[in-house]
Amino acid sequence: MGLLCLDGVSKTYASGSLRVGALVDVSMQVVPGEFVVVTGPSGSGKSTLLHVAAGLDRPEAGSVTLDGTDVYAMSERRRLQLRRKDLGFVHQFFNLLAPLSAVENVALPLVLAGVRPDDARVEAEVVLARLGLADRFGHKPAELSGGQQQRVAIARAVVHRPRLVLADEPTGNLDSKAGAGVLALLSELSEELGVAVLLVTHDASAVSFGDRHVALTDGYLLSGARV
Ligand SMILES: Nc1ncnc2c1ncn2[C@@H]1O[C@H](COP(=O)(O)OP(=O)(O)OP(=O)(O)O)[C@@H](O)[C@H]1O
Ligand SMILES: [Mg+2]
Repeated sequence: MGLLCLDGVSKTYASGSLRVGALVDVSMQVVPGEFVVVTGPSGSGKSTLLHVAAGLDRPEAGSVTLDGTDVYAMSERRRLQLRRKDLGFVHQFFNLLAPLSAVENVALPLVLAGVRPDDARVEAEVVLARLGLADRFGHKPAELSGGQQQRVAIARAVVHRPRLVLADEPTGNLDSKAGAGVLALLSELSEELGVAVLLVTHDASAVSFGDRHVALTDGYLLSGARV
């Protein structure tokens, strides 16, 4: 049974008289705990796929279900709750809050979810330590390398134990060594925590870190081979 199921999803953007099919009749599933890598060139629909999967961008055709619940049939409020509870996000530009330390950045989603700040900090420290940042708790993002910042962002994405992490080009701002380190950690965490990962990238070298690879071209999903 799929955790995330896209069924016949189409998303078209209109810009003036030009209509772009960002996703064309896309059907795919991510099962619990699975690490799926989607590759495609710039403009192929990768970010659109993640936005649609996250309940952030309603497709004009097809359905998106998370754990059997139709993401776009629920109220905006429930969709927000679902995003906060069941999803984690990793972005190309890390998106950490500059005035906050590593621990504070990671603890924030828990605090916003109502966890006591002291407990949230302990949880954040456990995850950061797991990601090799035990000696960087108090560092601000600007005091960390790109690879370290992305590991903080990964800690923030998993600290609330979501069922699915959506990662958009998470290595796009890193050199190949730091990028490989980040992908290896994501893959390990996926296994340890049983969290599914849907990662999109133009970087074909990411494929080997996933359990399964699919390719997007001009909005069309091409293959679903096991790696
Ligand atoms: N808000 C929008 N309005 C109009 N067209 C859009 C919009 N968002 C995306 N598109 C178009 O949809 C297509 C898919 O865009 P998307 O951002 O999903 O590509 P991508 O694969 O993530 O590219 P990149 O690797 O450069 O991030 C592109 O042709 C883009 O121009
Ligand atoms: Mg993109």
